[in-house]
Amino acid sequence: MNNPSRPGAGPDTAAIPLRVGGHPQPAAPRTRQLEDRFGRRFSYLRLSITDVCNFRCEYCLPNGYQGTPKGFLEIDEIRRLVAAFAELGTWKVRLTGGEPMVRKDFMQVARAVKQTPGVKRMAVTTNAYRLADCAEDLKAAGMDAVNISLDALDAERFQAITGDRRFDRVIAGIDAALAAGMDAVKINTVLLKGLNDDQLPAFFEFVRERPISLRFIELMRTGDNGDYFATRHLGGDRVRDRLDRLGWTPRDRGPADGPAVEYTHPEHAGRIGLIAPYAPGFCDTCNRLRVTARGGLRLCLFGNGSDDLRPLLAADEQKEELKDRIVAALFGKRVSHFLHEGDYGDTPHLASTGG
Ligand code: 5AD
Ligand code: SF4
Repeated sequence: MNNPSRPGAGPDTAAIPLRVGGHPQPAAPRTRQLEDRFGRRFSYLRLSITDVCNFRCEYCLPNGYQGTPKGFLEIDEIRRLVAAFAELGTWKVRLTGGEPMVRKDFMQVARAVKQTPGVKRMAVTTNAYRLADCAEDLKAAGMDAVNISLDALDAERFQAITGDRRFDRVIAGIDAALAAGMDAVKINTVLLKGLNDDQLPAFFEFVRERPISLRFIELMRTGDNGDYFATRHLGGDRVRDRLDRLGWTPRDRGPADGPAVEYTHPEHAGRIGLIAPYAPGFCDTCNRLRVTARGGLRLCLFGNGSDDLRPLLAADEQKEELKDRIVAALFGKRVSHFLHEGDYGDTPHLASTGG
């Protein structure tokens, strides 16, 4: 771990000229880029804009939001933060939470992020409770992609898992996002033993006509969900076997692909994906960094601690210092998570770090 695979890579690459499309670019005096000691590049920022969530997913916030719902980054701070990341090569930003849409200024935040020079793609992860009402506005604000959390396909189970009764609104939100012409609509389904693993055929059916990617995510252990994890965790093999038997085929993976392995089927407009964070090699292509709703830079979902960027978000003039801080922090990123060793970091639940 202390023996970087690429000695010399990291923050001290500051003077190396960037190469774009194979052509050397003029050496800028302060060219820095987000690359860690293992040669991984970070072009993707997952920015939490609130910890608050109005759902109570059993594996995340079974008792509902318990924190103090204030003190989240203000819009000017968000603008400065995203501008600094963009100058360091980040071109994709995902807004996360908690539930990002509980913020009253959500649309302004979205517009500000997308207007930042260098940001080419913006996405949001939402529970979709108000997506049906705002999908078109969202598209107009520059949202390219939406990920929706959906762990059940009937209202009763949905309520049992999320504590919320708005199943129909969530489905309407998915269809509204498609109708609004988003580039990508994806569903995140946490695989839960005894709660939704018997519904796999129904999930496959859900994407027969809808051109969406539905990804099963293996339940991850966090600080707060130990007992739940022990009861409900199910390996992705169950899904993989089923897909194989039903004639789904895995797609070749491109270098910019995220952690999901995706499957297609000739009779289905959509795709089925599998995200297996416990599988070996999961972290090899990590391309993302996270910032919490209060401005903490987190290098890994399952890491420890965060680097407080907030003191450097108070004024535009701090941008270079902020960029230096981010580049320096990246030096501490570990080669992988250590979930397999029972080390899940200090994340109490994913609402606290944006998932
Ligand atoms: N394990 C796996 N997925 C989780 N999510 C939240 N908590 C967990 C967990 N412990 C999912 C949510 C959402 C996404 C951000 O992460 O359902 O879709
Ligand atoms: Fe809210 Fe997402 Fe956590 Fe569910 S998983 S309680 S929707 S933050």
